[in-house]
Amino acid sequence: MKAGLLPLLALCGAVAAWLPHDKLRGVNLGSLFVVEPWMMMRKWESMGCGSLKSELECVSKLGQETADKAFRDHWETWVTEQDMDEIKKYGLNTIRVPLGHWIVESTVQKPGEQFPRGGMAYLDRLASWATAKQLYVILDLHGAPAAQTPQQPSTGQFVSTAGFFEPDRFNQAYAFLQAMTEHIHTNAAYNTTGTIQVLNEPVRDYSQAPLLLQYYATAYEKIREVEKKLGVSKDKRLTVQFMDKTWGAGNPKDVMSGKHGVAYDNHRYLKYAPVQHTKESYLSTSCGDSFGEAGNTPIVIGEWSLGVESSVEKTAEWEPTREQNKAFYTKWWAAQVVAYEKQAGWVFWSWKTQLGGDWRWSYSAAVKVGVLPEDAGKAAELSPC
Ligand SMILES: *[C@@H]1O[C@H](CO)[C@@H](O)[C@H](O)[C@H]1NC(C)=O
Repeated sequence: MKAGLLPLLALCGAVAAWLPHDKLRGVNLGSLFVVEPWMMMRKWESMGCGSLKSELECVSKLGQETADKAFRDHWETWVTEQDMDEIKKYGLNTIRVPLGHWIVESTVQKPGEQFPRGGMAYLDRLASWATAKQLYVILDLHGAPAAQTPQQPSTGQFVSTAGFFEPDRFNQAYAFLQAMTEHIHTNAAYNTTGTIQVLNEPVRDYSQAPLLLQYYATAYEKIREVEKKLGVSKDKRLTVQFMDKTWGAGNPKDVMSGKHGVAYDNHRYLKYAPVQHTKESYLSTSCGDSFGEAGNTPIVIGEWSLGVESSVEKTAEWEPTREQNKAFYTKWWAAQVVAYEKQAGWVFWSWKTQLGGDWRWSYSAAVKVGVLPEDAGKAAELSPC
């Protein structure tokens, strides 16, 4: 074992749960266990679901058996052990893995809910690769029961109103969290899995999600309940992660103060932010960015990219394939990394996409075209600010 690997295993004393000492430098494995068709249109078409918006619709159309087979092929190929080696080689130390609740198949309620089966074996395989390569793993409930936000394929279903915010649905999610917690602590494959995020991106309006803080408080207790039952020592308990206050659906700290092993998540896409959409503005915004207000620390910038505002993204000034634009994207990447490493670190969205020559959402492709350095630790040296 290389000496350089040891810091990852060192526990961060201040947090008193399982979070690495180093800054997190990572990538999301987007569209693996929760398909987002926009990221993998070719593959989605080859699965027979090209015109459909979500996993639920795809399984309903194909039928369970055929769908299970199509998704197995997707899990088999979308992220391989070679990808994990590349992630490691590029100086990254973390993966964030979006999950649908249906990976715990007992949480699927029939009729109505229809999702691919058999994903857990592939998650086990992924976790064991991460352990072998000493990559830290964040598991994230991306697709909550009945969807936590409307019209988002990233929830696994395309619904007109978010159905998650009621007690029966919360119970389904607690069952998912408890099953995952037990699975993590009783399988050696999950040795480097240390964080569980209880909900990704709910509706950004607390009035539409009035019970959310209650869900957060109970979710935390449910995870700890399993750990107490299993006798997991305090330093090995999972870090429980929440979307931060600035997301706009309430301040999780209101129900987490005094709790140990808590972390927050901020998603920072200037593409959607109320800033001027110019290169100068993107750089100065990123250079001056700050996080963790209202006691929301430690905080990870768990999603961000090089995507730019939709009305300008294809113009000559921003076009990624134009040689003269590449230097900007390198600099902006570095500016973001420097800002996010003032916090607990970052996880880029995403590792891999099928967006042709547009590498702004694909860490692997951006490294291959030379926009990102082969060592993720080089950002500060680029003096972006
Ligand atoms: C991971 O495995 C190592 C080596 O067996 C062990 O010392 C360590 O306690 C394990 N960590 C967790 C979080 O289970």
